[in-house]
Amino acid sequence: MSAGPLGLVPADPLGLLRRGLHRPGKIPRYLFGLLVPSSRWGPEWRRRDGVVTFEPGGYAASPRTRPEFAANLAHEVSGLWALLDDLEAHDLDRSLEVGCGYGRLSPWLATRSDWHVALDPDGRALANATEQYREWELEFVRGRAETLPCPDDAFDLVVTWTVLQHVPDGTIGAATSELRRVLSPDGHLVCCERVEPPADDHIWPRSIEEYDRLLAPLSLVEVRDRPVEPTWSDAMPTDEPSERLLAFRGPDG
Ligand SMILES: C[S@@+](CC[C@H](N)C(=O)[O-])C[C@H]1O[C@@H](n2cnc3c(N)ncnc32)[C@H](O)[C@@H]1O
Repeated sequence: MSAGPLGLVPADPLGLLRRGLHRPGKIPRYLFGLLVPSSRWGPEWRRRDGVVTFEPGGYAASPRTRPEFAANLAHEVSGLWALLDDLEAHDLDRSLEVGCGYGRLSPWLATRSDWHVALDPDGRALANATEQYREWELEFVRGRAETLPCPDDAFDLVVTWTVLQHVPDGTIGAATSELRRVLSPDGHLVCCERVEPPADDHIWPRSIEEYDRLLAPLSLVEVRDRPVEPTWSDAMPTDEPSERLLAFRGPDG
């Protein structure tokens, strides 16, 4: 989140108030994080150079408990695995994860291909990922979806997991054009993104039809619910997640 002149006044006070009222438990942490920026508490996200990045303290301040987080990862990987199996996306040469964050999914995706590249604009998240997964020898690269530092047609599988929903309308066209460019003509693009409200001050939901249009000539071959843990709705603002798993196939696939 960008802040006002003193660094203490939020740029979007109404959005902040709305989220604060929804999750009042976050307010003291938020204020403490602003006053002590080096603390692990604070706003869960910030906008820097037009990119929404997430704070480690933001994850910690999530309404979800650690057991729920752990279960969430298991459910998400299991749902992603089922989809990749159905797409017959295994034993791949090259895969790319755009917006890998702290590398939560990277070691799992890396098992699907000979060479996995995990990319994110957030240098601090990447440093954390490199440290946490150093035994895996994964390739963590700094970059953003709108200008991917990758050759054309390079990857059999490209994955975005809750990433495009954080790319503003002004740059989403550039991002989706880059995803198309780096995907091999018979490869798969798998996205887990918010496709319906609620919008947030850092989330731009886009309909399935809009993603389909943005990603043409890739063809949409599968739509599934985002896999979540059974207790998801206890902590989150909506009863059902508003993200979907979307699988696209390259024009020669
Ligand atoms: C909600 S996090 C998801 C991280 C990871 N995919 C996961 O599921 O754990 C969104 C990530 O997208 C990254 N991001 C935001 N804007 C981006 C952009 N324009 N290009 C690439 N990544 C971006 C952020 O830095 C952040 O790491």
